[in-house]
Amino acid sequence: MPAITYELIKTCKQTGARLGKVHTPHGTFETPIFMPVGTLATVKTMSPEELEQMNAKIILSNTYHLWLRPGEDIVEEAGGLHKFMNWDGAILTDSGGFQVFSLSDLRQIEEQGVHFRNHISGEKLFLSPEKAMQIQNSLGSDIMMAFDECPPYPATFDYMKQSVERTSRWAERCLTAHDRPDVQGLFGIVQGGEYEELRKQSARDLTSMDFAGYAVGGLSVGEPKDIMNKVLDFTTPLLPDNKARYLMGVGSPDSLIDGAIRGIDMFDCVLPTRIARNGTCMTSEGRLVVRNAKFARDFTPLDHNCDCHVCRNYTRAYIRHLIKSNETFGFRLTTYHNLYFLLKLMEQVREAIKEDRLGDFREEFFEQYGFNKP
Ligand code: GUN
Ligand code: ZN
Repeated sequence: MPAITYELIKTCKQTGARLGKVHTPHGTFETPIFMPVGTLATVKTMSPEELEQMNAKIILSNTYHLWLRPGEDIVEEAGGLHKFMNWDGAILTDSGGFQVFSLSDLRQIEEQGVHFRNHISGEKLFLSPEKAMQIQNSLGSDIMMAFDECPPYPATFDYMKQSVERTSRWAERCLTAHDRPDVQGLFGIVQGGEYEELRKQSARDLTSMDFAGYAVGGLSVGEPKDIMNKVLDFTTPLLPDNKARYLMGVGSPDSLIDGAIRGIDMFDCVLPTRIARNGTCMTSEGRLVVRNAKFARDFTPLDHNCDCHVCRNYTRAYIRHLIKSNETFGFRLTTYHNLYFLLKLMEQVREAIKEDRLGDFREEFFEQYGFNKP
C-alpha cells in the first residue's frame, strides 16, 4: 500500500465538487479540507490540543524554515516532526521551493537547484530537489511536496515555459531521491501560470510520473480571482480522479468554495492566522476588524452564528481590549475563532456536496458574507 491514498466518495450533482477521504499514516481526513499553517512546527499561538479541539486533521509545515532552524537533524533526533511538536494528526510539508523565492535575497536558479541567502543569518545556501527530499524525509511528514519553481505573477510565456520544463525535470529527481515512499507520500506541483498550454504541458509531464497526489501551484500570487478560477477550470480536469488535488496558498472563504467547486480537495493559507494576529476576524457576515473603536462596548460574540469556544465565552469588547493592549491571549482567541470558522466552513461544504446542493450553499454564503455586494 502507498503511504497516501485518495478515496472518492461522491461528486456534487449541482457543481461537480468532490467529497473524498485521504488516508495517511496519521489518520484519515475527509475532503475538501482546510489545513492550518504551522510554519515553524507550531500553528502560531495554538497548542496541538486546541487544534484537535477545533477538529483540525492535518496541518502544514515548512521544509525551508525547519531546515534553517532548528535544523532537520534535530527534528529527526526527536523522533520526527510529529513527536517533536506533539501533534499526532497528519502533517504536510511544503518543499521550500516557494519560500526560497518569496523570502530569500539574491537567489540564483540553476539546473542543479537554487543558490540563495538565508533570510535570518545572511549565510549562503543551496537547495535542490535532492536536498528538499532529504530534509522532508528527516522531518517525517505524511505528505511531502516536490521541489518546484513558483514564478512571480505576471511572468512571460517564454519564461514560464522554461520554468515548467525545469520543474518537471526537478519533479523526476524528487521521485528518485525520495527514500521513504512506504511511509511518506510525495505530491507533484503543476505550474504554468495563467497559460493553458503550459498548465497542460506541466500536468501531462507530472501525471506521467507516479506521484501520490497533485498540487496546483503558482496561484494566489497576485493575479485577479477570475484568472485563478479560469486556470482551475482548465487545470483540475487534467488531474487523475483517483488522487488528491491540493490548491496551494489559498484560504479566503470565497476561494475555498470556488476551488472545491472546481474539484480541489485540499487548501492551506496563512490568512486566517495572520489576520487574527492583527485583530481581524472572519465571520459569517464578512470580515470584522475587532480592533475598531466601535466594538469598545460591544458585549456580543465575534460571530453570532459561530459555536466555537471563543464565541461561546468571550465578547468583542474584551477581545478588542486584549488586542489593543498587545496581550497574547487576544491573539489566541482570534486565531482560534478564525481557524474554527474555516474548518467549519469546509465541513458545511462537505455536507452540501453530500446533499448535492453546493451551488445553493455558495449563493447563500456569498450573500451573507457580502461577496455579492457591488
Ligand atoms: N505555496 C503557494 N504556492 C506555491 C507553489 O507554487 N509552490 C510551492 N512549493 N508552494 C507554494
Ligand atoms: Zn467563533
